[in-house]
Amino acid sequence: MGSVVKTFGPITAVNGLDLDVPSGVCLGLLGPNGAGKSTTMRLLTGQAIADTGSIRVLGHELPRNAKAARAEMGVVPQLDNLDVDVTVEENLAVFARLYRVRDVPAAVDRALAIARLTDRRRARVDELSGGMRRRMLLARGLVHDPRLLLLDEPTVGLDPQIRTQLWSLIDDLRGRGVTILMSTHYIEEAERLADEVAVMTAGSIIARGRPADLVAEHAGRETAEVFGPAGELAALRARAEDAGLRVRPAGPAIAVMGSERAPDGLLPEYAVRRAASLEDVFVLLTGEEAE
Ligand SMILES: Nc1ncnc2c1ncn2[C@@H]1O[C@H](COP(=O)(O)OP(=O)(O)OP(=O)(O)O)[C@@H](O)[C@H]1O
Ligand SMILES: [Mg+2]
Repeated sequence: MGSVVKTFGPITAVNGLDLDVPSGVCLGLLGPNGAGKSTTMRLLTGQAIADTGSIRVLGHELPRNAKAARAEMGVVPQLDNLDVDVTVEENLAVFARLYRVRDVPAAVDRALAIARLTDRRRARVDELSGGMRRRMLLARGLVHDPRLLLLDEPTVGLDPQIRTQLWSLIDDLRGRGVTILMSTHYIEEAERLADEVAVMTAGSIIARGRPADLVAEHAGRETAEVFGPAGELAALRARAEDAGLRVRPAGPAIAVMGSERAPDGLLPEYAVRRAASLEDVFVLLTGEEAE
């Protein structure tokens, strides 16, 4: 998509967005609440229409050819919109027919296997646990064997164990060569799954690259966290910034980035030095505390 703008009345949700997702790549769209991630997804599915700019998905021009594009992409929305009073397999079969899949039973079996829901196929959706429902949403998005998968916050609000399960399912799909665009505001999710990360804030992308490259470019090699009384930390922050280092609050501490370049004696001995992380980059670029 190029130079895309989408407004809702006075709100500019997407503001001159340029984004391309190379084939076979898992791109993580990382941004705080309200950054415009879901709106971007909805533009790509044709559910929202851009005010200006151009959008192409799998060679199809949007919104004109949204239908053809939709046929080749799988969508897992941020909000659960499953039919609750039918079974897991009926849900999938409805979608398979909607997508005019040739062999519906085989497609249903395949999607169930990928989402590891084969043994729950005859359960009604409202009998599933929260994690199973999420896997079910993923299965539904995959039933027509799409080349491109859009995942909007695939693990939001899930407990860590279920989140890990979903990560391994998504990682499997990546291994099968499916192109994935995944929005998230969990840094760890992007770090684990994404080949490349695009940091989005206020409707546009402010940085993009492989996680390790973004870290090296924006945060340096090492970060030092210093705990102490607020007054001392403020003084240290001023000295570090005078020395050309970037500093951010980190809960009760401050984090001094690029600490490998700190002049001798600047940082106290009790500073905790660690490898620079994507979280450092995210907080630096968006000004938000990370989740
Ligand atoms: N249908 C709509 N009508 C009015 N405003 C909207 C609509 N959809 C989104 N917005 C606004 O557009 C902005 C971007 O919203 P969007 O849902 O794209 O953000 P997001 O990055 O997905 O956030 P989150 O992490 O909370 O899901 C927000 O200010 C939101 O209130
Ligand atoms: Mg969203």
